[in-house]
Amino acid sequence: MSHLNAVETTPDDVSVAAVDLLLDAHAIHAWYGSSHVLHGIDLQIGRGETIGLLGRNGMGKSTLIRSLLGHVAQRDGHLTLFGKDCSRAKPHEVARLGVAYVPEGRGVFPNLTVRENLVMAARLGRDGRNDWSLERVLDTFPRLQERLSNLGAQLSGGEQQMLSIGRALMQHPELIILDEATEGLAPLIVADIWRVIGQIRASGIATLIVDRDYRKVLAHSDRAIVLQKGLVVLQGSAPAVAASTALAGFLGV
Ligand SMILES: Nc1ncnc2c1ncn2[C@@H]1O[C@H](COP(=O)(O)OP(=O)(O)OP(=O)(O)O)[C@@H](O)[C@H]1O
Ligand SMILES: [Mg+2]
Repeated sequence: MSHLNAVETTPDDVSVAAVDLLLDAHAIHAWYGSSHVLHGIDLQIGRGETIGLLGRNGMGKSTLIRSLLGHVAQRDGHLTLFGKDCSRAKPHEVARLGVAYVPEGRGVFPNLTVRENLVMAARLGRDGRNDWSLERVLDTFPRLQERLSNLGAQLSGGEQQMLSIGRALMQHPELIILDEATEGLAPLIVADIWRVIGQIRASGIATLIVDRDYRKVLAHSDRAIVLQKGLVVLQGSAPAVAASTALAGFLGV
């Protein structure tokens, strides 16, 4: 806990609370059976903000994400999404409010074509937003254009990941959560996915990013939080976290 305030609050952090808060999580706990995994985590995400979520293997990153999405049954704490109390919300309710999830290990339907995967994900965003058309998603991922009539199961790992992100964009979310989107992919594909993450950020969609490449995460984030054993041990603006002498120890690098 002694490192909790190692990075001073920046003016940016202060404005987050005042501006439009998409996600406001307070004292989030989570358990798997008798194993207490998250020990009271606070997280805020403002409109259009990109947050990097860092920490070594098994520190609770995916559990935090899955708790926010309503996937972890044994959880406690307060979660407000878009001003609405979602502390006990079900996953489909969270999705309907405008949070898209690109899970670890890809979320595509293997027996549907690329086109079907994309079209069935489509929905209008808040206030009727529909700027992510099929055409725009295919412009963003030209490889998917070439594979439109292939089944999800016929795609390479990288193409499946692109399809999973494409499906998230078709939902016109206010917030996209990416858990290890580049895991196990070839370097050229990884670079392409980071390019798209940059485009998503530039388009004004907020993102919460987990990735093993902490340098890339910090380079693409406005703020970052670092977890250790289910607690936030370091947080602040991305440059401040990157400059922290405590970071390497928390990440084991
Ligand atoms: N379904 C589960 N059932 C029981 N324990 C789990 C389950 N999922 C995760 N855990 C445990 O909870 C802790 C946190 O795991 P979590 O997957 O959230 O970590 P992580 O930070 O995402 O790690 P990684 O970098 O490996 O993805 C770990 O000790 C893990 O073994
Ligand atoms: Mg994980």
